[in-house]
Amino acid sequence: MDRSNPIDETSAAAADTSVVQGGAIDVVVQGYDDVYAAISKSATFSLIWQRQVLGDDYPMDFAHISFLTLIELQEMRQRLALRQGAALVDLACGAGGPGLWIAKVMDATLVGVDPSAIGLTHARTRADSVGMANKAWFTQGTFAMTGLADAAADGAISVDAFQYAPDKRAGLKEAARILRLGGRLVFTFRSWWVDSTGRRNTSTVRSCDGNTQTAPVGSGGSSTDAFTWSAAGGAA
Ligand SMILES: C[S@@+](CC[C@H](N)C(=O)[O-])C[C@H]1O[C@@H](n2cnc3c(N)ncnc32)[C@H](O)[C@@H]1O
Repeated sequence: MDRSNPIDETSAAAADTSVVQGGAIDVVVQGYDDVYAAISKSATFSLIWQRQVLGDDYPMDFAHISFLTLIELQEMRQRLALRQGAALVDLACGAGGPGLWIAKVMDATLVGVDPSAIGLTHARTRADSVGMANKAWFTQGTFAMTGLADAAADGAISVDAFQYAPDKRAGLKEAARILRLGGRLVFTFRSWWVDSTGRRNTSTVRSCDGNTQTAPVGSGGSSTDAFTWSAAGGAA
């Protein structure tokens, strides 16, 4: 199999080291390793996920373990505004489904980054099975340390994972660093807020990008989630 690897192996190795020494990250990653190991063994889990989360229209070959609908996936693709053949990065790619779908539709190359070694193994298997073996690569890393070169990507996505970034400013700066000027980061993530009764609620912020600030679904308009993407490519 020909996988011409675009990943900077030196910095990828540094990212690996930080992943295994990550403290709180270790707990999250161990949890996701367990989830990815279990999912592949349970047809029942896959069926429940398909019926209750993915929906009938979502393509199962590109399944995820988040809450993304097909309509949202299509919207992410549009917001990226990628040219055909572009280089896409999926941050916290897990088993790779959403990033592979967009890359395949756009005839793009894909690099997926995730700290879960088991998730990455599934992503590589999925890339082979959907005919993306020579166009997709997966590497261990985190939001703050992807191991990718400067300006490596024309666009980046992240699906329902940014809440795990211990240092969100560092994560956004890393995304800006790996994006070419004008490249967009389009992402969704879980958020929380405290309502008037003091109750803590969670919801998913959908489809943020450099030009848009979207209130969490069901937040009653109480969103405080907003990111400004400066023209210079930095996150403020
Ligand atoms: C809900 S899953 C979403 C995975 C994938 N995006 C999808 O849609 O199926 C969250 C992912 O975040 C990853 N993750 C956890 N902490 C992370 C961090 N600090 N940096 C990058 N990814 C992280 C986990 O390993 C897991 O794969």
